[in-house]
This record gives sequence, C-alpha cells and structure tokens, in this order.
Amino acid sequence: MLSNAYICTMKCRYILSVGIFFMFSCNYYSVNTENNNTSHVKTGKVIYQNECMMCHGENGKKRVLGAGDLSQSVLTISERIEIITYGKKSMPSFEQRLKSEQIREVAEYLESLKPHD
Ligand code: HEC
Repeated sequence: MLSNAYICTMKCRYILSVGIFFMFSCNYYSVNTENNNTSHVKTGKVIYQNECMMCHGENGKKRVLGAGDLSQSVLTISERIEIITYGKKSMPSFEQRLKSEQIREVAEYLESLKPHD
C-alpha cells in the first residue's frame, strides 16, 4: 500500500512540475508574442525591462559585471545594435532572443535613458 507520505511527495512533485511548466510557458509566450508582431505595446521599454534591466538597472546606471553607464553612453544607434546583437565580453548576445526590430527598438529606447536638459 502507498503511504500517505509517498502520495504527498508525488502530489508536491506534480504541483511543482506544473508550476515550473507554467513559468517556462509564460516566459516563452511573452517572447513569442513579440515575435509574431501581435503586440505593438511591446516597445523598447518593455524589452529593456525584461531583458536588460537586471544588469543595466532601470535608468541604465546599474553596472553589473562592469557594464558601462548606459545613460552616459556615447555610442550611436548602430554601434549599440551591434553590441546588443552580438554581445561584448560579459554583455550577452541577443541575436537568438530578440528579432532585429526589437533590438532596434530597445537600442532606440536607450536614448531616453540619457539625461534630458
Ligand atoms: C548579463 C548582464 C547584461 C545584460 C542582461 C545586458 N547587458 Fe548590456 N552590457 C553588459 C556588460 C557587462 C556590458 C559592458 C561590456 C564591455 O564593454 O565589457 C554591457 C554593455 C552594453 C552596451 C554598451 C554600452 C557602452 O556605451 O559601452 C549597451 C548599449 C548595452 N549593454 C545594452 C544592453 C541592452 C539593450 C540589453 C538588453 C537587450 C542588455 N545590454 C543586456 C551586461 C549586460
């Protein structure tokens, strides 16, 4: 006979794996909606918040792994697109993760991190 403890463990595992599945599918879904162009709301800002903020911070000033302050960056749009696409040292490549339009959007969004005066 199965002990209660065994049944409980199986239940917990089930709940856990369903949970993990949902986490992944949500993540996949959000990337996917960007890809099929259904959502025009997914602008550079959203991409930035999802993909870049953990290293660069809300205003580009967080400097994880020696990242430069994006709000002070003097790079042109095309130089940024190049770095975002192919990566640079600890900066990951987004070639596989984002479409080229999305890379452009987020590169353009970086302009708005610069101090306006
Ligand atoms: C894992 C952390 C990490 C993530 C995620 C990340 N970056 Fe970076 N980024 C870095 C690091 C580190 C550098 C510095 C690379 C170097 O020159 O050594 C950098 C450099 C850059 C630069 C060059 C800045 C300059 O003036 O030299 C740009 C532009 C940039 N990142 C944009 C982005 C964008 C846009 C995203 C999201 C799509 C992103 N990064 C995601 C870590 C990250």
